Amino acid sequence: MVNTPIDSTIVKRKIAESGIKDVGKASIREIKRLIDQIENESGEKFIRMEMGIPGLPPNHFGVEAQIAALQNGVAAIYPDIQGIPIVKNEMARFAKNFLNIEVNPEGCIPTVGSMQGSFASYLLLARIYEKRNTTLFIDPGFPVHKMQHRVLDLKFETFDVYNYRGEALREKLESYFSKGHIHSVIYSNPNNPSWICFTEKELEIIGELATKYDIVVMEDLAYFAMDFRKNYSHPAQAPFQPTVANYTDNYILFISSSKAFSYAGERIGMLLISDVLYNRRFENLLKYYVSDAFGYSMVFGTIYPLSSGTSHSSQYALYGILKAANEGKFNFVDEVKIYGEKAKVMKRLFVENGFNIVYDKDENEPIADGFYFTFSYTGMTGAELLNELVYYGISAISLAITGSDRIEGIRACTSLVNKNQFGDLEFRLKSFHQNHS
Ligand SMILES: Cc1ncc(COP(=O)(O)O)c(C=O)c1O
Repeated sequence: MVNTPIDSTIVKRKIAESGIKDVGKASIREIKRLIDQIENESGEKFIRMEMGIPGLPPNHFGVEAQIAALQNGVAAIYPDIQGIPIVKNEMARFAKNFLNIEVNPEGCIPTVGSMQGSFASYLLLARIYEKRNTTLFIDPGFPVHKMQHRVLDLKFETFDVYNYRGEALREKLESYFSKGHIHSVIYSNPNNPSWICFTEKELEIIGELATKYDIVVMEDLAYFAMDFRKNYSHPAQAPFQPTVANYTDNYILFISSSKAFSYAGERIGMLLISDVLYNRRFENLLKYYVSDAFGYSMVFGTIYPLSSGTSHSSQYALYGILKAANEGKFNFVDEVKIYGEKAKVMKRLFVENGFNIVYDKDENEPIADGFYFTFSYTGMTGAELLNELVYYGISAISLAITGSDRIEGIRACTSLVNKNQFGDLEFRLKSFHQNHS
């Protein structure tokens, strides 16, 4: 019996009691509950990397604006479904300042988290064409987006982009687009779970093909400006957050407030629809909506029945945050840089102790240090590795649930790991390596 940092009898008993058959294949929430219980019983704190939740205090510009709005009585009043005018204007300004794109405030819609923006988009996009019925996922990806497809009973196809970076992406995308059944494509950038970031060349390929095959690109910017290799934090100053919007007019952008602004709790996100798409008409929509106009059907045919807009006070919070960022009073990138600093150290500790970084390059450049990274240990699958790491006080999730083909891979999230745990992490990785090499 090998000696492990966490008492193995406790770990075994808790796994048996949890009813989880295979820790390596458990969902994020199952792992969370199991680790909570092992921590309680053993008194040992884990290096917790399973949950992708923000680990910073909320943005104070948001909190102050929201409190003021509540005190002014907005809680009693239905907000405009399409968003209150001041936040729509600030969203359009934000798009100009930090993405360098022009979007009419009309197409800038606050949603109940970016989660609702994607749900509404999937619903609508599945209905724009009679003969096209499939979304394409450029994976790995955020598992909840696939869950949204399943509950809506929508078709999707996926491929892991690992082997199709750079120019190779063109042929791969065309192999799907040319069949004529794809209406839209979705990816996150920076990517959850792998933290790869598409290069300008790759975004250009996606945009060019979207125009050629008339496919809508949904670009999920949940980790807006968090590729810390470049500084995207100054309003109206290059460099800007890269976006497919520079290469096609067929786009929808999802911008979450959860990570970049540490505002996950208030469930407020941004849905930005290009002017061209907003005003476009699709005959097939008339089967489901009173209008054939895309933007109108999004607001009054989709968001209205889903939630009738989003919370009035949180729209004021978003307004406060965006206004401060637009005026250069709030450097939102500086606030979250700590995730990248932690990733840099954590990746080094993993690599020094025999682990490999799975998604390690953007074309020829090493990937950025940020919110997530992926790792593996030679000779083990991700599921085997996760099972084993629990005994070493380390928790994470398998890449298998993210649409990745890299079955050896694990996703680690840096947000909840405290810098004062790095010593423990190093000790635990060392003892793992000693026991396995
Ligand atoms: C890629 C991606 N998209 C969307 C979301 C959800 O964002 P929100 O909290 O704004 O709904 C997340 C949250 O983890 C994410 O990682």
